[in-house]
Amino acid sequence: VELRDQHVTDGFDAVAQRALRGAPGELLLVPGPVSLNAEVQAELEHPPRPHYGPDWVRVFDETTDRLRAIFRTTGDVVLFFGPGAAGLEAALHTFLHQSDRLLVPSNGVFGERLSRLAEACGVTVIRLPFAPKEPVLPEAVAEAAERAGATALAVVHNETGCGLVNPLEEICSEAGRLGLFTIVDAVSSLGGIPLEVDRWGIDVCVGVGNKCLAAPVGISPISVSRQAWERSGSADLGPKGSFLNLVTWRDARSRPDHHPHPTTMPTSTLHALHTAAGIVLEDPAGFLRRHAATAALAREGLSELGFPLYVEDERYASPVVTAAYALETMNLDDYMGWLASTCRIRIARGIDTGDEPVFRVGHMGLGADPEVAAAYLELTRHYLEERVPA
Ligand SMILES: Cc1ncc(COP(=O)(O)O)c(C=O)c1O
Repeated sequence: VELRDQHVTDGFDAVAQRALRGAPGELLLVPGPVSLNAEVQAELEHPPRPHYGPDWVRVFDETTDRLRAIFRTTGDVVLFFGPGAAGLEAALHTFLHQSDRLLVPSNGVFGERLSRLAEACGVTVIRLPFAPKEPVLPEAVAEAAERAGATALAVVHNETGCGLVNPLEEICSEAGRLGLFTIVDAVSSLGGIPLEVDRWGIDVCVGVGNKCLAAPVGISPISVSRQAWERSGSADLGPKGSFLNLVTWRDARSRPDHHPHPTTMPTSTLHALHTAAGIVLEDPAGFLRRHAATAALAREGLSELGFPLYVEDERYASPVVTAAYALETMNLDDYMGWLASTCRIRIARGIDTGDEPVFRVGHMGLGADPEVAAAYLELTRHYLEERVPA
């Protein structure tokens, strides 16, 4: 790529280099997985360690406690080995009953996926679709729950596919009023968007390490209320096996002499999560503010450059991922390819945004940094000047 103004791209390469500390690879501005801070990356690269012994158990227990603090719960946390979808499936299997009627509101790809996961587990699902770009409305949830005789609710906090955050506190408040057992998909929100498991009355909340917590892929932390464990005693959905049954994970913890989990764990990943969670807890409110400030800057900057934002209503614009339409005069593949090849910065396409040319910029991991967002915007400005007809 020939550029008139080479110093501009050199400048951005320097930003990527600094963020990556000179490491090879790309700066991921996709909504997970994320580029890791050097300390977390070092844990991941540490030679393998065993998943037993007192030193390991101490780190495992400390990580569990750190996640408890991040979930804002005094209840239980299971560090489940697997991706978010496995954590969600385990939660559905472990706590729901054949007699349950599970309401699943949806305004995007992950809400729909949650419905399908629940159906695959044999749960009776009541879908409550919302129009694209519309948040899940608490009053509509309450009305549908009453109409359908729902006993449980499963809801996505942050719709990663289109950058829309649902008003979870208000949704949970309605669920609490109606006595619904509540399961939350916080896969793309945990750590990056305010979330209060105990105060909001969430029974089971499923996250992952590899998004806002800024850790590598491999562990799905799941918070479990006392009521949820009680419910698991009589859960009677079809065969749930052993690995996907969170009771197996809970019970393994009572034999820490061996190891406090039922399977071999990805030890480097756990150590990296331990470090990443420690960083979150140095200043949890500041950590949240940094995501929100980065998203605000990205939204403002993209708007100024003429990109129509996918979610127009500020109240529901995600603080961890921004989606926008490409300009009519530009080729989205060319733009994304240019970012990747010239600047080593990777952004994502919209998911479930129809045939429309939508792209997403993640504000997670090293991307949750206003300086990185400013650099990305400057680079985009440069791209438009150089390669897009006015
Ligand atoms: C909201 C949400 N739920 C569930 C998932 C699935 O997580 P995983 O890919 O780790 O299985 C994702 C992944 O991006 C997500 O964003």
